[in-house]
Amino acid sequence: MCGIVGYIGPQPALPILIEGLTRLEYRGYDSAGVALLEGDAIEIRRAEGKLAVLAGQLRDERFAATLGIGHTRWATHGRPSEQNAHPHASHGLALVHNGIIENFVELRERLEQEGFRFASETDTEVIAHLIARHRRQGLAPSQAIRAALAEVRGAYAVAVVFEAEPETLYAARNGSPLVLAKGEGESFLASDIPAVLAHTREMIFMEDGDVAALSAGEITITSLAGEPVARETTHIDWNPVMAEKAGFKHFMLKEIYEQPRAINDTLAGRIHQGEQRVALADLGLDVEFLRTMRRVVMVACGTSWHAALVGKYMVEQLAGVGVEVDIASEFRYRKPIVGPRTLLVAISQSGETADTLAALRQAKAQGATTLSICNVVGSTMTREADATLYTHAGPEIGVASTKAFTTQLVVLYLLALHLGRANGRLSGDDEATLLRDLITLPTMVEEALACAPACERLAKGLAERRDVLYLGRGIHFPLALEGALKLKEISYIHAEGYPAGEMKHGPIALIDEEMPVVCLLPDDDLMEKMLSNVEEVRARDGVPIAITQPALVDTLPEGTEAITVPPCSRYLCPVVMVVPLQLLAYYVALRRGTDVDQPRNLAKSVTVE
Ligand code: AGP
Repeated sequence: MCGIVGYIGPQPALPILIEGLTRLEYRGYDSAGVALLEGDAIEIRRAEGKLAVLAGQLRDERFAATLGIGHTRWATHGRPSEQNAHPHASHGLALVHNGIIENFVELRERLEQEGFRFASETDTEVIAHLIARHRRQGLAPSQAIRAALAEVRGAYAVAVVFEAEPETLYAARNGSPLVLAKGEGESFLASDIPAVLAHTREMIFMEDGDVAALSAGEITITSLAGEPVARETTHIDWNPVMAEKAGFKHFMLKEIYEQPRAINDTLAGRIHQGEQRVALADLGLDVEFLRTMRRVVMVACGTSWHAALVGKYMVEQLAGVGVEVDIASEFRYRKPIVGPRTLLVAISQSGETADTLAALRQAKAQGATTLSICNVVGSTMTREADATLYTHAGPEIGVASTKAFTTQLVVLYLLALHLGRANGRLSGDDEATLLRDLITLPTMVEEALACAPACERLAKGLAERRDVLYLGRGIHFPLALEGALKLKEISYIHAEGYPAGEMKHGPIALIDEEMPVVCLLPDDDLMEKMLSNVEEVRARDGVPIAITQPALVDTLPEGTEAITVPPCSRYLCPVVMVVPLQLLAYYVALRRGTDVDQPRNLAKSVTVE
């Protein structure tokens, strides 16, 4: 996710852009830039690092410009740097972009053959040159924008300024949010409401395929085909703090609800629609190594370790490769046996976790090939691993990891399919079938979010408890761990995740009328055994809460609470089943009045041992 702001009107544009970008820094902050139409020339200023670096550089400059665009970046293609920062320019225009252009490689090759020189590693720059190319062919700015966007595949929200059009600011959206705003004799655009709320509450939410022309006093919208489009103006009555969380009470809740989009963004460009195959162009590992490597070792901490435990099932059962999963802080001190035939996968949202980084370095020193699965472009882990597969979850602000976890599972699934094809374990038909499940995942997660009212209702009782047990089997055992971690870290209630098969080996002694037991009960090959565990809990007056699917509700023992999610394919079911666990933890913490986004004693990234 990146942040975009644009302005056209009677006021100096620069202060409005900087102030607006400041309110969008939660969307991304590894570099920033502005483009201003100063007289008849576009002036561009960009800087790596937080927005404050750019603002500092501009402090002594004076601009009279009343038309401009600004951008704060969350890198997806091309590491954070001044040259990759937006705006990107081409022949009398400048452009900022939020989204992922899936076919940018082929477009870039074509444009370079036509003589365009690229100054960055970004996918965004392709759009700037495409528009310039159509302008060269005599198209007016708005037509050139529409023609260029008709050639790109993927998600975009763009704002464009032209030296030849000092009275108009252009915008277009497809798949990434963009809001327009009307002031008194002035117009604004932004990725999100907070950026412009200080100036006006009259907002127009662009829809996919919309192209807008903003002048000082008017906003007109057309379709990509050039047909006029009418959009409602909405009066926003949020206060600025609410606005930054898009109206959600906490970043954690906002990020739980962002998961369908985050999964979509993580899939973007990685499934070849025509041939129904995984396209991990960004994997960057030698195919021969992947075909012949002997084992995979996954290292991580906390929630990312839970993702690795789920990944083990995916890679072993889909790719037929042995996987060992280690808590990074244990791996680094147990003199691990890894070497040249080992693929070490380090999983980390932040890419800065000290224990995981140390484990990666140790494995690399012992000759292993290293892959990081990470959410932060340019973080230390991504710079030290031999290769990186990014989750495109966008910045995760809440300390409790949610959308990073589900997108980690998606990347692990893609990796398992890729490995299974590389070593011949999976046929093309297998891959196509497994991909069809993946393509429906964002919708399944969207539907799973409908369990929120049930979770909020059950949270009332859970919030009074001292201890909670989570049970799961097979690929859902790691979810028992994850559900327990979510609850304990934000509500401070003691919670433990256990393999349900271990009940008789100790935990059953805990079961009584005071002990809620959250049971992960998908309709899979272990369902009967899991159902027996739920009955064992009920038989001892325990309080079972089943996270299950509608078809199983009638089979539950009397007195069992049920939260249902849609049925899902075997290996992707954890992505759907974790949603109620996240929401349960959230609503319990809300009732207990803890600091949901910044729980006591915790940091978002543990960069020390
Ligand atoms: C999870 O909700 C916690 N915030 C924590 O366990 C976290 O997953 C762990 O610290 C690992 O962080 P990383 O993914 O950034 O490496």
